[in-house]
Amino acid sequence: MRASIPQRSDYTFKANRNLGRHGWLRLTPAYGVKLVENILESSNTEEIILDPFSGTATTGLVAAARGHQAYSFDINPFLIWLGNAKSRNYTDDSLMDMREKVSQVLKEYKNYLNRDNWTPKIFKIDRWWSGDTLKIIAALRTTLVDRFGEPEDGYEYSLVWIAFSRLIIETSSAAFNHVSMSFQDRVIHHKFEHIEQLFLEIIEFAIASAKQNFVGRAKVLKMDSRNIISSQKLKFDKVITSPPYPNRMSYIRELRPYMYWTKFLHEAKEAGELDWLAIGGTWGIATSRLHSWTMQEEKLPDRVFSTVKNIKMSDGKNSNILSIYVLKYFHDMHLHLSSIRSVLKNKSKLFYIVGNSSFFGNSVDTAALLSDSMRMLGYSNINSSIVRKRNCNKALYEYCVSASWFSG
Ligand SMILES: C[S@@+](CC[C@H](N)C(=O)[O-])C[C@H]1O[C@@H](n2cnc3c(N)ncnc32)[C@H](O)[C@@H]1O
Repeated sequence: MRASIPQRSDYTFKANRNLGRHGWLRLTPAYGVKLVENILESSNTEEIILDPFSGTATTGLVAAARGHQAYSFDINPFLIWLGNAKSRNYTDDSLMDMREKVSQVLKEYKNYLNRDNWTPKIFKIDRWWSGDTLKIIAALRTTLVDRFGEPEDGYEYSLVWIAFSRLIIETSSAAFNHVSMSFQDRVIHHKFEHIEQLFLEIIEFAIASAKQNFVGRAKVLKMDSRNIISSQKLKFDKVITSPPYPNRMSYIRELRPYMYWTKFLHEAKEAGELDWLAIGGTWGIATSRLHSWTMQEEKLPDRVFSTVKNIKMSDGKNSNILSIYVLKYFHDMHLHLSSIRSVLKNKSKLFYIVGNSSFFGNSVDTAALLSDSMRMLGYSNINSSIVRKRNCNKALYEYCVSASWFSG
């Protein structure tokens, strides 16, 4: 029966590329706009929507476009910045001002070419950009900073920095033919004219899509979703989200070129520290720390422990550390599902898009294990259905786990 389940690229980040603001920057694990739209179809009145794992703020943008109030949480500072930049309303005047300043920058930046411009401390930077290309984008960056300030200085000119982030990825040797970012065989040399033309095209694309203002509102807040603190006494009608999957995908790894160039990341050590905060994080120090990790909550569903035991007993390389990785993933998701209850309205509805995985032939049924956690934590109407097939060869699927919350 499962053989006939389609891959539905319209439910993935691929379909977002040409959808205005959704297409500004790519994050492979982003879900498709259509998926969120389908869930919101039944919301006839204005609602308060929460996405506790914002990523590129897909949920917030779709909800705000439909007139809802949306809040999203993330722990990654770059994604919080990006999500808020995508969720802003831009005035025509500010967009025109930005366009004029960018054309000035393009006239001036060549004066900076022979200076010692700042470049990020990315490991083996010459694998990403050829020496000449690096010189051009570094000079461009210095000139942009003179005109617009650094990205973290505020949101006024965030669009310029989003366009610059897109430029650095499009002039790099990053390849996107796998789920995770990899490298093309060789670095490409770009001429001045090509880089300038590309930057202008990106700016125009961003400006055109920034003109469309939101009916509702969306905001991204810094929050660890394992420990949700609601200072604003906000309560939510609906949760629509896609948390990390237990598949060792590292968001820091995927985002590092953007994060270094926008100075949200300064050195390799910091990347591991940040990934340790992320559920399912696995980059650098985040994996070795698993050896000394201790559980904060020991009451987890039985099926979590049996799944972990099967992985540990298998004879795969690193089976012990990977069994701890899986245990910590479900432990952290359990903490999240426990914590989020304090910000849910009575009769609120939750929708979690999650993916299964497999370690040494042992399947990890994420949807079933999270459903077990929900049951333990008092949620009702728990249901799980397959949304799409993720991979043509392996039995990897995406599921929607839905539930209701009745308080008191
Ligand atoms: C699968 S992505 C979300 C993708 C999103 N649906 C989109 O369309 O872009 C999961 C997100 O959860 C965030 N995250 C991981 N651990 C977190 C935590 N403890 N608290 C808040 N956010 C977290 C990651 O930084 C990442 O942005």
